[in-house]
Amino acid sequence: MRPPNDVVLITGASDGIGRAVARGFATHGSSLILAARRAERLADVAAELRSVGASVVTCPVDVSLDAGRKELVTKAISTFGKIDVLVNNAGYGYRCPLETTPLHAVRSIFETNVFAPIALTQLVVPHMRDQRRGCIINMSSVAGKVARPLSSLYDATKHALEAVSDGLVGELRDFGICVVVIEPGFVKTEFVAVADSLSTDYSGNDGNYDRLRRAMRESDARYRRFAVSPEKVAQVVVRAAIARRSGTRYVVPLFARVTLLLKRLLPHALFQRVIGG
Ligand SMILES: NC(=O)c1ccc[n+]([C@@H]2O[C@H](COP(=O)([O-])OP(=O)(O)OC[C@H]3O[C@@H](n4cnc5c(N)ncnc54)[C@H](OP(=O)(O)O)[C@@H]3O)[C@@H](O)[C@H]2O)c1
Repeated sequence: MRPPNDVVLITGASDGIGRAVARGFATHGSSLILAARRAERLADVAAELRSVGASVVTCPVDVSLDAGRKELVTKAISTFGKIDVLVNNAGYGYRCPLETTPLHAVRSIFETNVFAPIALTQLVVPHMRDQRRGCIINMSSVAGKVARPLSSLYDATKHALEAVSDGLVGELRDFGICVVVIEPGFVKTEFVAVADSLSTDYSGNDGNYDRLRRAMRESDARYRRFAVSPEKVAQVVVRAAIARRSGTRYVVPLFARVTLLLKRLLPHALFQRVIGG
């Protein structure tokens, strides 16, 4: 088990899963460096965690920007002298057709969901290698294995993150650094509301996708009944980080595991119909 005095850097800690992960590590006794763009939200999370005795610093940065990522890692090292665990959690989705999503928006989602975890990994690996110990946790999704209509760009970012993580496991093993992928199913956070609001400009207004949009909304409503709390995902993240020998992949909850099992068992076209495609 990892010692409680580990230093944990969490991106996307102002809300949802990242905030729950921060609470989970605080309970374990870790020191925390928390990143997100909304400074006030981040300050609220930090105040809550300090009130229960946690050592917390915040860094209100945009992880899609090179300068923000450098500031974050520099602040972690200058404050705590080390980083033991990096949780690449910040991310968002779109719910819009690929046809009507401008390329700048595609680049933007890849910047946050894929390039930021890659760049942060590049920044923390030298520190982790020096101490011969570290853990990088990448927040993927069932969408890292499954792609659905109107979500193909988000799903592509998570597929990319999965491939990056798989390759990294072997690259970093000899340095004592583990790489873990978390694959949550539906989680009760602001994720869908944020995705909807970011997608409004990219949805096309000629009605071509209205039928599909209605169908996906119904399909989502059916499956979102199985959504779990962010705390449930956080428990898995903390467990993976503190394990003496962590696994490389954690799927949470059971409903997500069943979905991935069906993907393996069913013919592709039938599986796509089951998930709403
Ligand atoms: N909710 C789900 O059903 C679900 C399922 C599977 C996987 N996931 C994954 O879980 C992760 C967290 O999502 P969530 O559900 O907790 O969503 P959320 O409640 O919307 O939280 C997203 C977090 O990411 C931060 N963030 C977004 N863009 C950022 C940027 N450019 N720089 C810094 N921080 C940024 C947000 O903070 P600011 O806005 O303050 O920057 C916020 O703290 C994401 O990677 C998501 O893909 C979610």
